[in-house]
Amino acid sequence: MLERRPDYMVRITKPALAEAYIEERIAMLRDQIGDGKVLLALSGGVDSSVVAALLIRAIGKNLVCVHVNHGLLRKGEPEQVIRVFREEMNANLIYVDAVDRFLDKLAGVSDPEQKRHIIGEEFIDVFAEEARKLEDVKFLGQGTIWPDILESDAGIKAHHNAGGLPADIADRFELVEPVRILFKDEVRMVGRALGLPASMVERQPFPGPGLGVRCPGAITRDRLEAVREADAIVREEFEKWGLSGKVWQYFTVVPDFKSTGIRDGKRTFDWPCIIRAINTTDVMEVTVEHLPAELIDLLVRRITSEVPGVNRVLFDYTPKPPATVEYE
Ligand code: XMP
Repeated sequence: MLERRPDYMVRITKPALAEAYIEERIAMLRDQIGDGKVLLALSGGVDSSVVAALLIRAIGKNLVCVHVNHGLLRKGEPEQVIRVFREEMNANLIYVDAVDRFLDKLAGVSDPEQKRHIIGEEFIDVFAEEARKLEDVKFLGQGTIWPDILESDAGIKAHHNAGGLPADIADRFELVEPVRILFKDEVRMVGRALGLPASMVERQPFPGPGLGVRCPGAITRDRLEAVREADAIVREEFEKWGLSGKVWQYFTVVPDFKSTGIRDGKRTFDWPCIIRAINTTDVMEVTVEHLPAELIDLLVRRITSEVPGVNRVLFDYTPKPPATVEYE
């Protein structure tokens, strides 16, 4: 049977409604959890961050957050998760540096599906290892939101219970899903009311396999660093130019081919960096954001002078269809 949003649910369109939702949820969470402990994979994305902030309000240190750094996050993301949750919200946060583990597994793997598979499997392995160490934790927090339920009902996307964890630990947990009945804009509204920073609550979509799909072909550490540095420059400039709240998604890709260039009178042989900035309402169809000429010049100058290994900047002006948003 299709699950329905409760009839009494009004759309959360203003802060007062978000406050009311938070109060109600906190009471419900305390009721469900009692003095038990909750484990949560905290990526730093909108949904898991809002779930963490709600649970911190409800049960404080009885929430155990695990942040897995798989090496494919954007510049500054793991630091922001640690700063916001451990330092500012005083959360119980386990930080797992799994960078070498992921990159070693991915070394030499160029097939896009295999790359995604390795990243997904490895994530579950790392998280399961942490879960096994925490024997007294009986609840698992999840950032499931209402569109996930609709998509899984419609058969578009498999919605895993317990995040695809192996049965031995998945069976141990009772799920805690405090934003399950919310749409994305409502989750953001609740996040703002909980005091999360705008850079976390308003952030653009970012794929689970992270920068891994923006480093097409076999990932190497130097090319991954180039994608990460160039992405940071693009994000910084979009912010300065007032485009970050206006453009739906913008990012860089560094493909695995090189071309000839010249720097300080000497020949270079380096990668190009592709910039893609797009708008959409439903992600099925995507249009391209036409950037101001001065910004284009600035991005070309900054990326070619500040990012090691890049000697050329290209702009992808292809809509979807025929191109997808990501390259893999
Ligand atoms: P595509 O490339 O399919 O992307 O046109 C559409 C949107 O989905 C995001 N995307 C992902 N998000 N896990 C995610 O959570 C993924 O594996 C994934 N692949 C693509 C993409 O960034 C874009 O917003």
